[in-house]
Amino acid sequence: MKKELKIGLIGCGFMGRTHSNAYNRVSHFFPELAYKPVLQRVCARDGNKAKAFAEQWGYASFETDWKALVASPDIDAVDICTPNNAHADIAIAAARAGKMVLCEKPLSSTIDAAEAMTHEIEKAGVANTVWYNYRRLPAVTLAKQLIDEGKLGRIFHYRANFLQDWTISPDVPQGGAGTWRLDVDAAGSGVTGDLLAHCIDTAMWLNGGIKDVSAVTETFIKERVHQVSGKKQEVGIDDACIFHCHFENGSLGLFESTRYARGHKALYTFEINGEHASIRWDLHDLNRLEYFDHRDPSVVRGWRSILVTDGDQPYMNKWWVPGLIIGYEHSFVHQAADFLKSLEDRSSCAPTFRDALETQKVCQSVIDSAKDKSWKNTGVVWNSK
Ligand SMILES: NC(=O)c1ccc[n+]([C@@H]2O[C@H](COP(=O)([O-])OP(=O)(O)OC[C@H]3O[C@@H](n4cnc5c(N)ncnc54)[C@H](O)[C@@H]3O)[C@@H](O)[C@H]2O)c1
Repeated sequence: MKKELKIGLIGCGFMGRTHSNAYNRVSHFFPELAYKPVLQRVCARDGNKAKAFAEQWGYASFETDWKALVASPDIDAVDICTPNNAHADIAIAAARAGKMVLCEKPLSSTIDAAEAMTHEIEKAGVANTVWYNYRRLPAVTLAKQLIDEGKLGRIFHYRANFLQDWTISPDVPQGGAGTWRLDVDAAGSGVTGDLLAHCIDTAMWLNGGIKDVSAVTETFIKERVHQVSGKKQEVGIDDACIFHCHFENGSLGLFESTRYARGHKALYTFEINGEHASIRWDLHDLNRLEYFDHRDPSVVRGWRSILVTDGDQPYMNKWWVPGLIIGYEHSFVHQAADFLKSLEDRSSCAPTFRDALETQKVCQSVIDSAKDKSWKNTGVVWNSK
C-alpha cells in the first residue's frame, strides 16, 4: 500500500499544468516508489479558473486563498507555481506550517527574500526542492555522468545560451498574466532570473561553483504599457544579458540570454570543452547529446551524436523502447519521482532551496556587475548533488 503525499498546488498557469501532469503520470511510470502524489487541492485567485483547473487535472478540491491552502491540515506538500514575487510569502508560511515545499525557479524576485526563504525552510527542516527541471532531461543527466566519470578531464570552457524572440514588439505589455515576466516588481529581473538562472543551475551542477562574474545587460524597449495601470511605464527588467565568469575549477564561462534573437523560441544550448573530450546539448533536440573524444583513433575521430533513449541511459528504462524519444514534460515527471524517492530514502532532492539560493547569488551578481560595470565575486558555496 503506497503512502499518500497530498499536494496543494498554487498557481494555475504554465507551470501549474506541467507539475499537475507530472503528478498524474509519475506513479504509472515509477511504480516502485513508496509514495504516490494525491492531487488534493489547487489554488487560483479566480474561483472559476481554480474550479475548471481542478476538474481538468483531477484535483479533489479548489481554493482561492493560498493562505487557507497552506494552513489546511489535509495538505502535506505545497507546490508554488506563482510569479516570482509571490514565492517567498507562500514558501515561508508553508515551512512554518510544517509543510514540504516544492517551489518554481528562480527562488524569488529578490536575493533578500531568497535568503529568508532558505533560512525558514532549513529551520523548519521540511523536505524541499526547486524546479530547475533541465537537470533531469536524460541527455543532460548523461552529461553529468560523463563529467563525473572524468571523461572530459580538466575542463577549460563552459558556454551556454538561452535565446528567445517573443518580446521584440513594443506592443507586448508588461505586468499581468504571462507578461508579468516583463514587470520588474513581479519578476525581479528579466532574462537573468527567467532564463539564465536555468543555465547557471545546470552549469554549476555540471561544472561546479561560479566564483566571479562580469556582465552587460540591455533593455531595448524602455517603456511598455502596464496591464494593470493601463499606462506606459518604464521597463525595469533586462531584455538581454551577456556575462563571462570564472568557475571554482579554473574554467571560463560565457553565457548569453535574450528575448530579441529573431528566429529562436527557446534555444537553450550548452557546450563544455575539456582536456580529452567535449560535450554539447541543445534543448530543441533534447534527447540528443553530442560527444567528441580526442582519445578515439584519429581515422574515426569526430563528434558522436548520441540519441539518449536506451534503458541503460538515465531515466530511460522508465519509458518506451530504445529509439523512442521523450519530451520537455518528462523532466518534471523525473523531478517529481526523485522528490518522492528522497522522502523514502530520507535524503534531499536537489536542487534544494539552498542550491537555488546559490544560483540566485550568481544572478544577483550578474545584475550588480552590469549596473556597476565591474567584476563581482558571487560568494557562492556550491555543494549541490
Ligand atoms: N521550470 C521552468 O522551466 C519554468 C518555466 C516557466 C516558468 N517557470 C517559473 O514558474 C513560475 C510561474 O510561471 P508560469 O509560467 O507558470 O506563469 P503563469 O503566468 O503562466 O502562471 C502563474 C499563475 O499564478 C497565478 N497567481 C499569481 N498570483 C497568485 C496568488 N497570489 N495566488 C494564487 N495564484 C496566483 C496566476 O493567476 C497564474 O495562473 C515562475 O516563478 C516562473 O519563473 C519555470
